[in-house]
Amino acid sequence: MKKKILIVNGPNLGMLGTREPAIYGTTTLADIVGMVKSAAEGKGVLVDAFQSDVEGELVKAILAARGAYDGIILNPAAYTHTSVALHDAISACETPVVEVHLSNVYAREGYRHESLTAGVCRGQICGFGAKGYLLALDALLCFTCR
Ligand code: DQA
Repeated sequence: MKKKILIVNGPNLGMLGTREPAIYGTTTLADIVGMVKSAAEGKGVLVDAFQSDVEGELVKAILAARGAYDGIILNPAAYTHTSVALHDAISACETPVVEVHLSNVYAREGYRHESLTAGVCRGQICGFGAKGYLLALDALLCFTCR
């Protein structure tokens, strides 16, 4: 059976391309999803994508991935630094999650240095722009055992 990966993006990431390009680059979210889909296609992997600005919608998407996907590429955006609900959803979904940030959050404001979600993820990739999503795909395909 083909592996299935879900990409979940949090608040304000729908604005990628025009949102603070000096920090986040000029690649749109649709471009990123397209890049991951075409890389995955070559490896016989199916990819779906979901974006929401609403915390509860992200929780629902992560919980619904349980048993339905082999891995999740997650950029929780600002909720990384605030959301116990996302932390708990990642734990509950029992699906490997790789956390991605376009920017190097550790080189930015102090309030971005803490991730409430990374500790329940399989790993975290940050600071490599849109390429981080491709690295996360490779990480999930290398390290998921299902
Ligand atoms: C981000 C980093 C977060 O601190 C920020 O709130 C975002 C984007 C990133 O991809 O670099 O919205 O997750």
